Amino acid sequence: MAQDAIAVHVDASQPGAKIDRHIFGQFAEHLGTQIYGGIWVGRHSKIPNTLGIRKDVVAALRELHVPDVRWPGGCYADQYHWRDGIGKARKARLNASWGGVLDTNAFGTHEFMEFAKQIGAEAYVSVNVGSGTVKEAADWLEYMTADKPTALAKERAANGHPAPYKVAFMGIGNESWDCGGLMTPTEYTAQLRLYGRFVNSYNSAAPMQKIAVGPGSPDTDWTDAVMKTWKDRRGWSFDFNGMSLHAYTVFGGWPPHMPATDFGEQDYAEVLSETLKMDGLIQKQSAVMDKYDPDKKITLVVDEWGAWLAATKGSNTAFLQQQNSQRDAVLAALNLNIFARHADRVRMANIAQMVNVLQAMIMTDGAKMVRTPTYYVFKMYVPFQDAQILPVTFDAGSYSVGGISMPRVDAIAARSKDGKTVIALTNIDPNRPANFAVSVPGITAEQVQGQVLTAPKIDSVNTFQAPNTVTPRPVTLPVKDGTLAVTLAPASVMVLTLDR
Ligand code: AHR
Repeated sequence: MAQDAIAVHVDASQPGAKIDRHIFGQFAEHLGTQIYGGIWVGRHSKIPNTLGIRKDVVAALRELHVPDVRWPGGCYADQYHWRDGIGKARKARLNASWGGVLDTNAFGTHEFMEFAKQIGAEAYVSVNVGSGTVKEAADWLEYMTADKPTALAKERAANGHPAPYKVAFMGIGNESWDCGGLMTPTEYTAQLRLYGRFVNSYNSAAPMQKIAVGPGSPDTDWTDAVMKTWKDRRGWSFDFNGMSLHAYTVFGGWPPHMPATDFGEQDYAEVLSETLKMDGLIQKQSAVMDKYDPDKKITLVVDEWGAWLAATKGSNTAFLQQQNSQRDAVLAALNLNIFARHADRVRMANIAQMVNVLQAMIMTDGAKMVRTPTYYVFKMYVPFQDAQILPVTFDAGSYSVGGISMPRVDAIAARSKDGKTVIALTNIDPNRPANFAVSVPGITAEQVQGQVLTAPKIDSVNTFQAPNTVTPRPVTLPVKDGTLAVTLAPASVMVLTLDR
C-alpha cells in the first residue's frame, strides 16, 4: 500500500436512499443539429435509420440505459405548438429561440415517442406555458395518452398510433422567469395552478409526474413561491411532483466564454471549481423545500445541467455546439456524485444536452458519429442507476492553482440493484496521481474489476478522425486483507464493482 494512500472506508452495512436512475436523464431540445441531423435523418436518408431515426445514435444511447429524455425544450418548448408536428401535412416554423432557422416539424410527437421507445427511455414532455394555452396543453396530453376512444385518441390512431403513449413526466413551462415569459413568481404560480389542475395524462396504466418550473440561480424567492403554492393547495385542486433547478457551469459569467479545447490548467481548475458549487446550490434550495415539504415528497429535478462553454469556432453560435474533453468527463462525475449524495431530494436530473448541443453525449457530422468523454462517464456509472447509496469516508485533501482551491479527490459508493458494491473514484488533480486504500469490511473477493477513464491531456477530446482518444479501459485490482490498492491517474475517473 502506498505510503501516501488516501484511506477510503465504505460502510456496506448502512445502505441509504435510492440513487434514482432518473438522475442520469437527458435533454433533447430542437436546437442546432441535435434533432435534425443528430437524431432524425428521415426515412429516405442514406444514413442507416429505423423509421427516420439514426441507428448509430440509438445503439450508442441504448448502452447508457437512458432513463428519460426531455423534449422539445428548453426555451423552444414555450414556442412549440404540437399540432404543427402531427399528421401528413407538417407545418414548417422558424425556431425563434435558436437562430431563427427553419424547423420542418418532421420530428413531432410520434417521432419523439418512437425515439424514446427505440432508446428505451421514458418520455418527459415540456408543455408550452409561455405562448400556449391550458387547453392546447390539455389537448396534447389527451392526444398522446387517452386510452378511450375520444376524438383526440381517434386522431392519434388515424395518425398511426392506436395505443396510448406513456408520458412519464410533464414539465409545466420552462424558465418562466426568463425565456419562458419573464414572469414574476406570482404570475407563474397562477399558471401553475391551472396547468397543474387541467393538464393530465389519461393513460390509466401509466402514472405521470408533473414538474413545476423552479429556480435558475441561488436566489430562493422563486422556490419559496412555488413551494408555498404547493403547500397551500386544497382538496381536488392541483398537484405536482417535482420542481426544476437549472444550473449550468459557466465560469466568469455570461456569455459563456471558457474554451472547450486548447485550454490550460487554470481554465481546468476554474471550470471545475465552478461546477462544485452545485452542492451548495442544491443545499440552499433544498432547505427552502424542506420548510414546506419536510417529507421530501417533491423532487428537486436538476433539469438542465452541464458545462456551457465557448462555441466551436466557425459554428453557428446559436447552435450551442462545443467540444467535450476529459475535463467534461471529470465534471460529469463530480455532478453525478453530488446528485447521488442528495438522493433523498434529487431524484431526477437531465444533462444538457444529448446530441451535438452543449455537454453532449454524442456528436455527429453527416454519417459520422463520435462518443464524447462525458458519454463514457455515463456508461461507467450505469451500475449506480437505482442503487442505494452507501456511506463513504475519506480525506479529500486539496488541489490548488492560481488562487483556485478545491478538493483533490472525490468518491461515492452504492449497493447496486444486483447486490454488488460499486465505488466511483475521481482524481481531480491534473498533476498528481492519487493513491487510494479502499476498505470494504466483509469483502471476500480476491479481485475487483473496474473501468478507468483517463486521457493523455486534460483537454483531450474525441474527434471523428480520432474517436478513441478518451475511452475507458478495464482494470483488475487485487484485494489484500479486505483492502484495495488503487492508483488513479491525474484528472481521471474510475468505477469499481465488487462481487463481495
Ligand atoms: O439548454 C439550452 C437552453 O438553456 C435551454 O433552452 C434553456 O432552458 C436554458 O436557458
